[in-house]
Amino acid sequence: MLNWDEFHEDETTVAEQPKPAPAPQPAAEPKAEPAREAAVKESAGRYVAADEDRLARARKSLDELDVAAGLEELEMGAARIEVDDKQMINARADLNQLVPFKYEWAWQKYLDGSANHWMPQEVNMNADIALWKSAEGLTADERRIVERSLGYFSTADSLVANNLVLALYRLITNPECRQYLLRQAFEEAIHTHAYQYCVESLGMDEGEVFNMYREVPSVAAKSAWSLKHTQSLARPDFNTGTTETDQELLRNLIAFYCVTEGIFFYCGFSQILSMGRRNKMTGVAEQFQYILRDESMHLNFGVDMINQIKIENPQLWTPEFQDECTQMILEGTELEIAYARDTMPRGVLGMNAAIMEEYLHFICNRRLAQIGLKEQFPGAQNPFPWMSEIIDLRKEKNFFETRVTEYQVGGALSWD
Ligand SMILES: [Fe+2]
Ligand SMILES: [Fe+2]
Repeated sequence: MLNWDEFHEDETTVAEQPKPAPAPQPAAEPKAEPAREAAVKESAGRYVAADEDRLARARKSLDELDVAAGLEELEMGAARIEVDDKQMINARADLNQLVPFKYEWAWQKYLDGSANHWMPQEVNMNADIALWKSAEGLTADERRIVERSLGYFSTADSLVANNLVLALYRLITNPECRQYLLRQAFEEAIHTHAYQYCVESLGMDEGEVFNMYREVPSVAAKSAWSLKHTQSLARPDFNTGTTETDQELLRNLIAFYCVTEGIFFYCGFSQILSMGRRNKMTGVAEQFQYILRDESMHLNFGVDMINQIKIENPQLWTPEFQDECTQMILEGTELEIAYARDTMPRGVLGMNAAIMEEYLHFICNRRLAQIGLKEQFPGAQNPFPWMSEIIDLRKEKNFFETRVTEYQVGGALSWD
């Protein structure tokens, strides 16, 4: 809630000050525009600087400001931006002007993401805490799934956020896409918050959970694979503009949007959501449901960016490069299958590693097809159709005990 008292505070302070002399009455027939000199005089502050010397230094610094250099940077008086000046990468157009829009899909996703705003503390965790602490609450295999999921995701979203702000943002030269990237970066912060909130609520060993990405091999392998694709773009001297560097940017987009957010999240998400469907750890599952909804939009945005870059730069999408990108998606699928085997040594929650493998082959096909590559597992079916239903943004119904109505900016989640 906004606290309006904060806004009134200044007024109170002013009221306690001696009243200023009444402003001079306007002349009987005021001129349309008062003389500039008189207006400046009227605006003179009522307060005296506490440190005249400091104020003098501030004014001296402004006097010395090289305005000419600033104006050159702004390209003062340059021609106005035309839609056709805009490009996904390597654009020379001014990046500070959001409109006119060229990529309406990017702006629409920014609006949709904002309309889906949620915060972790809004989810009731009481039933989860009781279940987690009770000796007979969960089986050892179910506990392992909760621990591994929080272990992988608690740092994975951080890797994604770092890639966005430290590597990608600078290289995407379009303001409406950058607007969505900023929204996505905040959502990643919310996701990391949600995992931390689960870990804290359940009283888990924080050191163990947050270090899992470098202590548990099946978790570490996925994190290391993602990190590898941030490294070159995050170098301060990296720039796009050649076929080689533009392809490197595309590799990063595929690594993060199609593989990290599009494959690496899917075993853990389906395990936790399956748990929620069985009325276990419903608070954690609900957090994951909102995160999955956000992630599916991140993925769709990434796919749109990749396809748009391909349209604008067809020379990048060579057969050799397509082959390499297909291999990247296969590598991601293999790592996620290894994670499924590690987290499900036996059947659990109506799933097992073999069914998950089928699901991941289905997901792999989807990711390949979304960016125009050939499916690698012909005929793979989706054994978890309920996952697609949860992902669907228009379905606000919760699978678990509570029900959330559509979230609008400024509103609140309402629980029945
Ligand atoms: Fe995320
Ligand atoms: Fe994401």
